[in-house]
Amino acid sequence: MTAQAQEKGASAPVYAPSAEFAANAHVDAEKYAQMYETSVKDPEAFWREHGKRLDWIKPYTKVKNTNYSFGDVSIKWFEDGTLNVAANCIDRHLKDRADQTAIIFEPDNPEEDAQHITYAELHRRVCRMGNILEDMGVRKGDRVVLYMPMIPEAAYAMLACARIGAIHSIVFAGFSPDALGARVNGSDAKVVITADYAPRGGRETALKSNTDQALLHCKDSVKVLVVKRTGGQTTWIEGRDYDYNEMLLEADDYCPVAEMRAEDPLFVLYTSGSTGQPKGVVHTTGGYLVYAAMTHQYVFDYHDGDVFWCTADVGWVTGHSYIVYGPLANGATTLMFEGVPTYPDASRFWQVCEKHKVNQFYTAPTAIRALMAHGNEPVEKCDLSDLKLLGTVGEPINPEAWNWYNDVVGKGKCPIVDTWWQTETGGHLLTPLPGATALKPGSATKPFFGVQPVVLDPQTGEEITTTAAEGVLCLKDSWPGQMRTVWGDHDRFQSTYFEQYKGYYFSGDGCRRDADGDYWITGRVDDVINVSGHRMGTAEVESALVAHAKVAEAAVVGYPHDIKGQGIYAYVTLMNGIEPTDELRKELETWVRSEIGPIAKPDLLQWSPGLPKTRSGKIMRRILRKIAENDYGSLGDTSTLADPSVVDDLIENRMNKG
Ligand code: WT7
Repeated sequence: MTAQAQEKGASAPVYAPSAEFAANAHVDAEKYAQMYETSVKDPEAFWREHGKRLDWIKPYTKVKNTNYSFGDVSIKWFEDGTLNVAANCIDRHLKDRADQTAIIFEPDNPEEDAQHITYAELHRRVCRMGNILEDMGVRKGDRVVLYMPMIPEAAYAMLACARIGAIHSIVFAGFSPDALGARVNGSDAKVVITADYAPRGGRETALKSNTDQALLHCKDSVKVLVVKRTGGQTTWIEGRDYDYNEMLLEADDYCPVAEMRAEDPLFVLYTSGSTGQPKGVVHTTGGYLVYAAMTHQYVFDYHDGDVFWCTADVGWVTGHSYIVYGPLANGATTLMFEGVPTYPDASRFWQVCEKHKVNQFYTAPTAIRALMAHGNEPVEKCDLSDLKLLGTVGEPINPEAWNWYNDVVGKGKCPIVDTWWQTETGGHLLTPLPGATALKPGSATKPFFGVQPVVLDPQTGEEITTTAAEGVLCLKDSWPGQMRTVWGDHDRFQSTYFEQYKGYYFSGDGCRRDADGDYWITGRVDDVINVSGHRMGTAEVESALVAHAKVAEAAVVGYPHDIKGQGIYAYVTLMNGIEPTDELRKELETWVRSEIGPIAKPDLLQWSPGLPKTRSGKIMRRILRKIAENDYGSLGDTSTLADPSVVDDLIENRMNKG
């Protein structure tokens, strides 16, 4: 994107879509305006039409039945239709695409061969996995936890669950045994699918051994299906552990599809919130797939024959919607990468793009910043001429990173789609459409079809109706990809998302809408922090810290971090008589890693003899945030503190002095 760059008043530069891109795109500016209008004026008619992108076993007659009234929140789409997700992602493509590559697998080790899995092969693999799960006793409606490396078997397992009507719950392979155990129990899973080891960045995580540890805290009846990834040594519990590679030889190549109702759950995915332990976000079958597929096609302007690469892990919602379900529902070729951006070196992403002739590339700002730090040479030595579009997700992208992505990676010719969405939303809500939307570095720009963002005054809860506005970001009305409930706790669903601002879905993000109606996400307004594009509840890290015998109290906040976006800053008060030492600091870091996972490890940990509290004992996080941000000159009102001297000590000993 270069030619159309223009300075708009004092505001950000604007990059209009090139005429060439717009001419070949699914949607240009005119079509966007027209489609958006019908989508919000008559959602029923709009989605009745677009629901047809799927193959239904029994077509729906009802389209939208949604209610945001607090106490009675209920979200249903296409409710009387039946379908199967695996049939939509595989079987229906066999007629025309049996020999087309569905999944390109690029292993962690570049010396190891890539795999090209055709739709016909995907069908066989998923059928066999479905039969294996049925042999293990999995039935429609049962939960299956996946704790997997980024290998094709992870996609087979997801689709096999969908095929037989089981509900999968993926736990990111970077989570600890404790976190895995909690999710197995939380969803009352019958089976855990894992691998012996997960190679990543030249190292290996012992997934099977982590699973063994996790299951010490779970029901004895939970079975384990083990995929041999490296063939390394593992322990084996006869009767509980099943060898996938062995069962594969016996498994039948055909497995019938289960007829599912549109509102039957497809998956549960645990995500962090502002309070308590992670909650199980529930997505259902029909609406989710319609939305994931449609956003994949329009937002990335995916065309037949393109190679699409989303660098996320299937352990996050991005991997669910844009590695597996969206692309495969569209009959696309989707790339699965097992590794990390910087192994064996900082040109790995670009080498993979070159090797597999990637057309659309979708990653996170944290990866872009990390790679940018290695300069242009690792990018420039690769042939990126097949790239047509770039995307980002997970956190606001800073203009420097946007410009580098645009200039160095995209050579000024690839539109950048900055997609704002959440685990809860199933797919993109705010995003440019590359043939239609003028881009602004750092802005997620405009709503997708059917999405009605509103900016509310955080104090009054009133909608701000002027175009230029700043406040909290909420959504009016529903879209098909929206989460339906919290697994096992509908009250928590209602109170988390529909209580604070009645009649709206509350996103937890703050935003600014500029005079052109473009949205700029300003970050979370709750106690959730965003570390390298991963959501972390400060309450979770705090409860991990206080679970340590030497810790009396802990408070965790986010602070700006050059690469990660936000870093984790922990204030820790030790038990009486315990000496703060560097050794103890390391012990606590290791402790948090083992309680939650490496992504939760505090970046900065400050010993705090006291924490700033109100007289009623409430920790004043606002002050802790300011100190962590090294912005203690503007602490605001501290007069309500029980002991103001605590603050002086915290400032004196702050860890973030730069
Ligand atoms: C939170 C959701 C949805 C996939 C990845 C994360 C932040 C996400 C953007 C963006 C600014 C973004 C928000 C959101 N976020 N995308 N393009 N610009 N912020 O999913 O773990 O559910 O996190 O990520 O704060 O609420 P998630």
